Amino acid sequence: MIIGVPKEIKPGEQRVALTPAGARALAEAGHRVLVEHGAGAGSGLADEEFARVGGTLAPVDEVWAKAELVLKVKEPMPEEYGRLRAGQVLFTYLHLAPVPDLTRALRNSDAIAIAYETVQRPDGSLPLLTPMSEVAGRLAVQEGAFYLSRAHGGRGILLSGVPGVPPGNVVIVGAGTVGLNAARVAVGLGAEVAILDVNLDRLRAVDDLFRGRVATLVSNAYNLERVVRRADLLVGAVLITGARAPVLVTRAMVEGMKEGAVIVDVAVDQGGSVETIRPTTLLDPVYRVAGVVHYGVANMPALVPRTSTFALTNATLPYVLELAARGAAAAARANPTLARGINVWRGRIVHPAVAENLGEPAAPLDDCLR
Ligand SMILES: NC(=O)c1ccc[n+]([C@@H]2O[C@H](COP(=O)([O-])OP(=O)(O)OC[C@H]3O[C@@H](n4cnc5c(N)ncnc54)[C@H](O)[C@@H]3O)[C@@H](O)[C@H]2O)c1
Repeated sequence: MIIGVPKEIKPGEQRVALTPAGARALAEAGHRVLVEHGAGAGSGLADEEFARVGGTLAPVDEVWAKAELVLKVKEPMPEEYGRLRAGQVLFTYLHLAPVPDLTRALRNSDAIAIAYETVQRPDGSLPLLTPMSEVAGRLAVQEGAFYLSRAHGGRGILLSGVPGVPPGNVVIVGAGTVGLNAARVAVGLGAEVAILDVNLDRLRAVDDLFRGRVATLVSNAYNLERVVRRADLLVGAVLITGARAPVLVTRAMVEGMKEGAVIVDVAVDQGGSVETIRPTTLLDPVYRVAGVVHYGVANMPALVPRTSTFALTNATLPYVLELAARGAAAAARANPTLARGINVWRGRIVHPAVAENLGEPAAPLDDCLR
């Protein structure tokens, strides 16, 4: 199969959908890999690294025109819509719900669009979203520590403390992937850490993992009010799948926080779990409310594109190899986890949530795969 890897053109996006390790695995399996010149540059991957393992560098027009399977990171931009071809397979993050124009463009292109974010295992887990939550969770504490310094508007706190001065206090709301990874870095830094969740099994897992080093609390308004007041760094990490994040930390709680404390609400991409949070960008990440520094970057992994590229492609490559070996229809028939990723199949919208957003019924995938 011919596999194409265009350079990402969404503003600020520096990741790339394939690493040289992936290009080598595909080349060794007998496929032809076309990589756009400069596609890996933002992640520190030079053209020669792809060429050395059997990839072919090509101009963007050739990549799109020849590829049977296009690997991307972000959804196609309007200037890319016209490049999609009938029968071509596109494998990328799509997040189609808020962009009906793109959904229509994909349908009209007669291509097959498979979204990373809806690839789902039978247990409900989302293997191609998890790596970005791991990155964002770890980064949340790193960024929080940075903004706690006085020069960056914070309280002037070193999270680890020093002998004779107690460590900073980190409160994490949500003990899922983001929350656990935030806890790991906060513990590593030597901070005093508390984590809250409504799911007792998640709290049991935290208790086991950190052997009591992290205080676990059931998430309710009473407990939140008590711990938020003490926090130097508050990390928002909740998710109710498919829904807006619940607002758990109210404006009154924020007003009760210490001057110069920092809030990093990772859940801002789902509306946020803090009443006073709003989305910000990497170019202008923070603002203050009631003396508290608010960090609301909705695409945190973009801050560390190299790590994020490796983390993402480690997770996507097995599916890419499967798609390349069998073709989309046979791969989807053989692997229900991958099949759940299919959003649009040759002019028909097959993902129920995506169809609902356009006010249409979804086409049954089985009919498409026949
Ligand atoms: N900002 C970014 O760059 C970025 C990057 C990656 C992920 N995210 C977002 O981070 C959020 C968390 O993702 P995740 O992968 O950790 O999700 P997850 O499903 O693994 O974990 C969410 C946790 O929140 C808990 N929760 C639900 N309601 C709660 C409540 N009332 N109080 C406390 N906990 C509650 C759940 O029990 C679960 O343990 C999502 O919105 C995700 O989209 C943002």
